Amino acid sequence: MVGATVAHENVNIIDAEAILCSRLRHVEQGCIPLLPFDIVLRINHFTVHRGIRRTMPTKKRRDEKVALNFSGRVALVAGAGGGIGLNIAGDLLAAGLDVVLADCKPESPDIDRGPGSACFLQGDLTDEKFVIELVETARKRFGRLDYLVNTTGVLWFDQDTSFATIDLDLWDRVFEINLKSFVLTARHAIPLMVEQGGGAMVHFASIDALRGDLNPQDAYAISKAAVIRFSKSVAVQYADRRIRSNVILPGPVLSPMQARWEGKTKMQQDVARMIPLGRLGDTQDPANACMFLLSDEALWITGIDLTVDGGLSARG
Ligand SMILES: NC(=O)c1ccc[n+]([C@@H]2O[C@H](COP(=O)([O-])OP(=O)(O)OC[C@H]3O[C@@H](n4cnc5c(N)ncnc54)[C@H](O)[C@@H]3O)[C@@H](O)[C@H]2O)c1
Repeated sequence: MVGATVAHENVNIIDAEAILCSRLRHVEQGCIPLLPFDIVLRINHFTVHRGIRRTMPTKKRRDEKVALNFSGRVALVAGAGGGIGLNIAGDLLAAGLDVVLADCKPESPDIDRGPGSACFLQGDLTDEKFVIELVETARKRFGRLDYLVNTTGVLWFDQDTSFATIDLDLWDRVFEINLKSFVLTARHAIPLMVEQGGGAMVHFASIDALRGDLNPQDAYAISKAAVIRFSKSVAVQYADRRIRSNVILPGPVLSPMQARWEGKTKMQQDVARMIPLGRLGDTQDPANACMFLLSDEALWITGIDLTVDGGLSARG
């Protein structure tokens, strides 16, 4: 009905109209590249305004959410073998994007299919050759790369302790996975994004980056703090090339990383009691924030770190 951007029967038409106007304005200002579907939008904008809005029941409009704006885009999700990365890849595919997924684990059978196309590559994201292959896959298979999502990460609970005592080989490996893999994907994604006239990145840190701890997981927490600073560097150095870079800091989220909580109701309840909003996160919570930060609705947001933790870190 309204081009690929809001092709959903439940879209809120008033807001959809605003999204279309905003997208067209940004194209005209040269903030985002002109794509073939923009021409479709330009035509269909008036279809939305004059035709569909009048036919939508009022209550239906009020209750429905706006689809975020992703049409014609291509994403690379690093760490998409499970957990938050897999959830984000599924949401992007469902929104119609083509997605390159990467992880050292094999492809998950849980990956949602379509309407976008998925291409999964298994490998080590700290290996630069593998990262180059990922970006080349996006270029060759889908013709472009608009979004990079870095969710790769490890938290080795038993071995990750204080900086004073931790095995330094382990320290180096955690930094390679949690920080260097982000640097590699960004380094190789940026030239393609620059060539195309822009892009957006979301990198995953953690609320553990924000404070010290008497039961430390220092390699994890300090590498996550470095992710925040890294993202700000990308944001500032590439803003003039229309590349945005933001960070999400999740609180406790039920995912394979937190497998220790699986089936342990009491343990989960104890953690949930500390969270002002009263529950542990699920992978959809940070995925929702990520979808917003990638979308054109966040075109004036870069260099931020967004906490998604049910209020945990706001608590004194
Ligand atoms: N789950 C939480 O409670 C939580 C809290 C705060 C932050 N985070 C962060 O969110 C991100 C996603 O976490 P998650 O909860 O989905 O965890 P997860 O363990 O499910 O996902 C991390 C993925 O990274 C992959 N990976 C690890 N090393 C790799 C390597 N060298 N090469 C390729 N892939 C590799 C893993 O196989 C895994 O699929 C992580 O960066 C994590 O630190 C999670």
